[in-house]
Amino acid sequence: MTTDTTLPIIELDGITKTYPGPDGEAMDVLKGVSLVMAAGDAVAVTGPSGCGKSTLLNIAGALDVPTRGRVVLGGEDLAGASERALAAIRNRRVGFVFQLHHLLPQLTALENVLIPALPGGGGAAVRARAEHLLERVGLADRQHDRPSRLSGGECQRVAVVRALINSPSLLLADEPTGSLDGDTASGLVDLLLDLNREEELALLVVTHSESVAARMARRYRLDHGQLSS
Ligand SMILES: Nc1ncnc2c1ncn2[C@@H]1O[C@H](COP(=O)(O)OP(=O)(O)O)[C@@H](O)[C@H]1O
Ligand SMILES: [Mg+2]
Repeated sequence: MTTDTTLPIIELDGITKTYPGPDGEAMDVLKGVSLVMAAGDAVAVTGPSGCGKSTLLNIAGALDVPTRGRVVLGGEDLAGASERALAAIRNRRVGFVFQLHHLLPQLTALENVLIPALPGGGGAAVRARAEHLLERVGLADRQHDRPSRLSGGECQRVAVVRALINSPSLLLADEPTGSLDGDTASGLVDLLLDLNREEELALLVVTHSESVAARMARRYRLDHGQLSS
């Protein structure tokens, strides 16, 4: 079997998302969003709070389903995929980084990183990758520390490693620097971009921060449910 390297990592085609509003009227959050990303792409989507950035990211990562439109992840059309199939696709193909790191406090950095690898059985290769990535993000000597002993920036770097442990092709980041101070935030963006290059990841960052967005090669604005460049 040959691998078609020109295949997009993700294709969003005419995505709409409608929520029931407070008075029962339909609220159209996304009104026909299309976006294609290939390996190595770094894309930012900006827009004010409430414009639908998280909704878009969650649909891209198969955490949520669109009202209309097509999501194709790694060549697989998600329409009609079972919950079980979606969970497997998320686990293998997608890494998520959120504003809050969501590390489990009772586990060490290394143990937290290994959680997404549990369904695959873990093993020596996965542990070696975890140790390699923790070293890569400058936390080699902190891997046996629990989150309470790490700074906010260090916890976020552990969360990035956790997102990458299963070697996803797509890394989705939702306000990844939202809880970090300026210098730490900038260091985290450096790291995301380095990993984007080193691991040939497609990186999609949604953020209200113009300075974070400015670092991405491609930038879009989400406004009134539509993307514009
Ligand atoms: N599950 C939901 N049910 C109803 N409305 C929702 C739901 N999730 C988000 N919304 C609404 O959709 C809009 C976009 O939300 P969100 O995607 O979280 O925006 P952002 O991430 O840009 O701040 C907001 O008005 C929000 O209140
Ligand atoms: Mg959001």
